[in-house]
Amino acid sequence: MKVQHTAEKLMVALDYPSAEDARLLINRLQGIPCYMKVGMQLYYTAGPDFVRELKAKGYKVFLDLKMHDIPNTVKGGANSITRLGVDMFNVHAAGGVSMMAAAREGADEALAKDASLTSPLIIAVTQLTSTDQSTLNEEIGIPGTIEEAVVRYAKRTLQAGLDGVVASPLEVEAIKMACGPDFRTVTPGIRPTGSAVGDQSRIMTPAEAIRCGTDFIVVGRPITASPDPRRAAEQILEEMTTSC
Ligand code: C5P
Repeated sequence: MKVQHTAEKLMVALDYPSAEDARLLINRLQGIPCYMKVGMQLYYTAGPDFVRELKAKGYKVFLDLKMHDIPNTVKGGANSITRLGVDMFNVHAAGGVSMMAAAREGADEALAKDASLTSPLIIAVTQLTSTDQSTLNEEIGIPGTIEEAVVRYAKRTLQAGLDGVVASPLEVEAIKMACGPDFRTVTPGIRPTGSAVGDQSRIMTPAEAIRCGTDFIVVGRPITASPDPRRAAEQILEEMTTSC
């Protein structure tokens, strides 16, 4: 796999407190055609203008706001997000099939009104990669293994007409078996060998994740907290490329 193509599978999590901080990293990564992931920390301060700025710079954008509300509200949210022109956004699978289908409806209504818009991939979060077995069973109250819970949510996501799920790379093979090879997997919980685990639980290295067949890997702190973020990103890309 060529580095250019590999970079399109790398999503850099811009988890920063301000647009200025995020721009510093973007400048350092200039020329790497990765996806930029905007989560709640940055979006709640820099808003839609920052997403438009990334699009104007030519980046693909994953807006990671993890919507989870009644279907009518999620439909409205999905409509607004689609009009922003993002390439991917997400909802929580725990909201149920009707809520997930409402996200698709909201996006479709926006697309029907404006043919110039990009059709975004809509992805559902299964279980956060910080969730471990005891959190799932004892705190969230879902019995069984994490893999069972994730695959159950993935099947519901497919039923709702969405494009894929966010999960840990540990679950990619089971998800693809259950939902088919075209059903996208977006996998955070990526930790290159030797990097700090932090609050993540279900982790893999970039090379392992690619070998498992994931479509996109999400990397935050191993790049953003590195003293040399560009080198860190390049090392991850090299690892991803050679593992194929
Ligand atoms: O810094 P780190 O590599 O752990 O960042 C992972 C990113 O992926 C964060 O922005 C986090 O919000 C996001 N994410 C996650 N687990 C999920 C969904 C999203 O870690 N299930």
